[in-house]
Amino acid sequence: MTHNNTKAERTGFGSKIGIILATAGSAVGLGNVWRFPYMTGENGGAAFLLVYIACILLLGLPGMISEFIVGRRAQANAARAYDNLSGERPWRFVGYLGIFTATIILGFYAVVAGWCLQYLYASLLGHVQGSADYAQTYFQQFASHPVKPVMWALAFIIITHMVVVRGVRKGIERASKFLMPILLILLVILVIASCSLPNAWKGVEFLFKPDFSKLNSHVFLEALGQAFFSLSLGTACLCTYASYFKRDTNLLGSAAQISVLDTLIAILSGLMIFPAAASVGINPDSGPSLIFITLPNVFQQAFGAIPVVEYVVSIMFYALLVFAALTSTISMHEIGTAFFTEEMHMKRRNASFVITLTASCISVFCAWSVGAWDSLKIMGLSLMDFCDRLTANILLPLGGMLTCIFVGWFIPRKIVFEEFTNQGSINANLFLLFVFTVRYICPIGIVLVFLHQLGII
Ligand code: TRP
Repeated sequence: MTHNNTKAERTGFGSKIGIILATAGSAVGLGNVWRFPYMTGENGGAAFLLVYIACILLLGLPGMISEFIVGRRAQANAARAYDNLSGERPWRFVGYLGIFTATIILGFYAVVAGWCLQYLYASLLGHVQGSADYAQTYFQQFASHPVKPVMWALAFIIITHMVVVRGVRKGIERASKFLMPILLILLVILVIASCSLPNAWKGVEFLFKPDFSKLNSHVFLEALGQAFFSLSLGTACLCTYASYFKRDTNLLGSAAQISVLDTLIAILSGLMIFPAAASVGINPDSGPSLIFITLPNVFQQAFGAIPVVEYVVSIMFYALLVFAALTSTISMHEIGTAFFTEEMHMKRRNASFVITLTASCISVFCAWSVGAWDSLKIMGLSLMDFCDRLTANILLPLGGMLTCIFVGWFIPRKIVFEEFTNQGSINANLFLLFVFTVRYICPIGIVLVFLHQLGII
């Protein structure tokens, strides 16, 4: 009976297209629009992009299919899924690791999402327009304010909480159907606007003309981390979502579609930011503030001649960014919520509350660590950057690697075959390639990147 109840509570997603959209919604977020440009900017541009694409194809795509296989087969939350399929309890650990990682990510991600909310609010009031200098000062003053960034971050977590508890995910799915295409169209418009600014070509060159002397071991690790972060891999997040998939969902096809869409949005974001940054003389390696100090200039320079257009475009952009961030935070929240609901037999409301409270605490400290408490450093990084690098560069690749090893070596081959090919009806030709990749390429590739970073090879 209890089991039936939890089942009923879990079937949150509606139509087939809705499920795929929700998964794409998890993948597409601040990772594409905020983190990708700033990582690319800090790691030398085009050469980073090439390594990033290689990571998506060789490690990310097979990793995503692996999480899908575990989730859809087990039809359970992160921890139970690994346990069910192996019959060996230690594998639950991968699920626990995922829940831990996702909650930390939710904590610092909400800070950036909160910045977006503040920018939405400020653009409604018409406050974020001005020169490059003005945009930089505005950002610094806001981010270092002791109260404002904390309030916005908490507001964002509360919105996420409300969606997760009320299960209005159906509404979100429906909204995704038209908001995602609008985001894409608006991005294209902004790319065109940004690329037509004076000296924009320097930014385009930065993104597409590789300088291989910029490649070092750290660049490989950052590209790997960014690929996993952007695809929402390595926390059993996609595994949790795949547990809501239908039997006839094509796992390979869906993973390919989501990866292509995700990479496209990241590249478009780069094409929106770098030409504009080059044009007004903002350094591409400005770090986490990059999009916040660059965008107001794009809006002003491209549309400033007609103030109404500038006003509307900036509001639309920040609103879409907030929406994209929300579909991602929902997915991070859902991992822990599903776990506590099903494994600890908690009410969904209480389970969500545990995650909300934990993430809120992390968020408050992260928000302070980039402003009022910026002298507090862990290994030379602010708490926010530390949480970001710890999760993206270490915990996500580790979680992804364990999932690949699990699928490649521990789940009976017959089960993997059934899930990959939907009972032998599709993709059978690519099956052996997939198995080879998850058995050897992914684990070895990730270990090599780690060892290289440590200076061992
Ligand atoms: N992929 C999302 C983005 O690009 C972030 C995200 C959502 C995530 N869920 C995740 C990252 C789970 C790691 C793990 O914004």
